[in-house]
Amino acid sequence: MRVIVDDKPEEMVAVWYDSGKVRFIDQRKLPEKLEIYDAGSYSDVALAIREMVVRGAPAIGCAAAYGMALAMSSGEDTGRAAEALRATRPTAHDLFYAVNWMVEMGPQLGPVEAAGKYTADIVERCRRIGENGARYIKDGDSILTHCNAGALATVDFGTALAPIRAARNQGKKLFVYVDETRPWLQGTRLTAWELTNEAIPHAIIADNAAGHFLKSDVDCVIVGADRIAANGDFANKIGTYEKAVVAKENGVPFYVAAPVSTFDFSIKDGNAIKIEERGEDEITSFRDVRIAGASEKARNPVFDVTPSRYVTSIITEEGSFAPGDISRMESRRKR
Ligand code: MRU
Repeated sequence: MRVIVDDKPEEMVAVWYDSGKVRFIDQRKLPEKLEIYDAGSYSDVALAIREMVVRGAPAIGCAAAYGMALAMSSGEDTGRAAEALRATRPTAHDLFYAVNWMVEMGPQLGPVEAAGKYTADIVERCRRIGENGARYIKDGDSILTHCNAGALATVDFGTALAPIRAARNQGKKLFVYVDETRPWLQGTRLTAWELTNEAIPHAIIADNAAGHFLKSDVDCVIVGADRIAANGDFANKIGTYEKAVVAKENGVPFYVAAPVSTFDFSIKDGNAIKIEERGEDEITSFRDVRIAGASEKARNPVFDVTPSRYVTSIITEEGSFAPGDISRMESRRKR
């Protein structure tokens, strides 16, 4: 991704390996500061995932792959490392997919090489999602997106932002409505930062303004996913479900962009997806300043499940699929 550092463009990725350390752009600090966070052990990586130094399903998967590589290279108990990494966040399927992949491929390819290959594959898959998805964006379109499904969430390119980047690179004029994405503000802090770095026209909107813009201004919605069930129901950042319902009500196409690593073919529908609930303080405080009354309690589910009937198409690196065609994709992959 292009990042403007001291007024100059630089190419950066969100997660990388360097001399025994996994390095992350610290996403808690953006957009104010571009800081790098170093993890020297699998438990450092687990902490970075839990604390959201690194976030977004595919990027969490790559971080976990490198966490496994650190454990394997230092001769630690890989079963324990796998367990610690899997316990960090329950919803993103990529985390579990990546750990399983490393258990199988780490010994064959060498730990760091395997994690590097896993990560390079994810980046390439996202690039292809961009290529496949750009056709849904017409010259002059306005697109609504929720959360951050950009390069920060996938190491590079993004899922939802990949077609937007690709369409812009094809010379199409476009405009992006960026949901702020309470409570962690992935839209305000991260998606807007990525779009600014790429000079893609956009505006941040309050989450509860999305319905207003879907009524008249938005041509399509593109979001990422954390886990997609075999019937196309999918989990994504809290608030996605209501955007999908309002999009359908207004006849606005609703696209989900995700690599195959996000599909959980073992669950038949979205009821089986475990929804992470994070601390109340994310709701009752803002940047450590209490905004709710001292005795107030809050609930903070950070994902919701959108039924597949609201999805127009799922854009993957292998092409686009209507939710009812996912089994076709799965059987093709098994061949
Ligand atoms: O809690 P987060 O920030 O990890 O949630 C991220 C999302 O919900 C993204 O939309 C999803 O992981 C897709 S990222 C390509």
